[in-house]
Amino acid sequence: SEHELILSFESSCDETSVAVIEDGHVILSNIIATQINSHKRFGGVVPEVASRHHVEQITMIIDDALRTAHVNYDDLDAVAVTYGPGLVGSLLVGVTAAKTIAYAHHLPLIPVNHMAGHIYAAAFVTTLQYPFLALMVSGGHTEIVYVDAPGHFNVIGETRDDAAGEAYDKVGRILGINYPAGKEMDTLAHQGQDTFNFPRAMMHEDNLDFSFSGLKSAFINTVHHADQVGDKLDRADLAASFQAAVVDVLIDKTMRALETHPVKQLIVAGGVAANQGLREALNAQMAVRFPEVEMVFPPLRLCGDNGAMVGAAAHIEWAKGVTAGPDLNAVPGLDF
Ligand code: KG4
Ligand code: ZN
Repeated sequence: SEHELILSFESSCDETSVAVIEDGHVILSNIIATQINSHKRFGGVVPEVASRHHVEQITMIIDDALRTAHVNYDDLDAVAVTYGPGLVGSLLVGVTAAKTIAYAHHLPLIPVNHMAGHIYAAAFVTTLQYPFLALMVSGGHTEIVYVDAPGHFNVIGETRDDAAGEAYDKVGRILGINYPAGKEMDTLAHQGQDTFNFPRAMMHEDNLDFSFSGLKSAFINTVHHADQVGDKLDRADLAASFQAAVVDVLIDKTMRALETHPVKQLIVAGGVAANQGLREALNAQMAVRFPEVEMVFPPLRLCGDNGAMVGAAAHIEWAKGVTAGPDLNAVPGLDF
């Protein structure tokens, strides 16, 4: 057909996902198998367990993605895969599957950066206009990215220690919330008040960088100190205070970035983009400070890791002429 169909793979962490994407912005299928239940009892992702699950799942998920999309291998134009950043054993499962299908069916192979995937999830809800800014907030990364042309990423600010999602998961654990704790912390935060006034690191520094480790320590120390003296702290207020601090710094730095990098669109991407507190506060601030800038939040199911976002980014990469050979390898520490 005259439409471009890309079979796209995501297996960088604890979700095995395969999607069929038409023309970079239409989802024909997006099958996501999460392993969260297997990792919960360990309090985080166990790499060996993750790669074994990917191996067990991937063949079924490929079949499911093709069947759901009503597509055969013959209908495909290309295969795309996340090759980094992520866990090497997990990445290798997707990379190997994608390479095998590309080779067996004589299809081009498109390598995709996982973070580019998160950003291009926005292509499912809007027509992107360059240059745009992206606030990338996930379990592994917290960055402000200036995208001045298709697939051309400039990281203008980033965390110097923990990622925002990582901080959510760590403080959530202190409150007895299972991994990944972000969503439940968000719900709990809405039932409490910002009474603890936790530190907002680097807020008034003239740069676009973040730091969340001081906030995490302040939270942990507060809870431990209360335990020692036998105080019972309000969990909802703790969550609300933590969330207020995270949201304040994310918004402060994003506003600074918008001042120095005029754009028509602000994209919020990655797992933490699902955060309701962040969405509400950002919408409110933007309406006052930058009402002319379009706010783009991908739908919740496209904020976490998924194959669809990989297909959207692959569409952009392929148009640039980017393809890989059978020597494509996983690159766990891949940057933009
Ligand atoms: O993008 P993602 O699925 O995986 C990575 O590439 O890291 O992000 C996962 C992270 C986890 O740390 C999780 O706790 C966090 O996103 N997260 C949230 C929310 N939903 C997921 N954090 C805050 N609020 C949420 N509603
Ligand atoms: Zn991710």
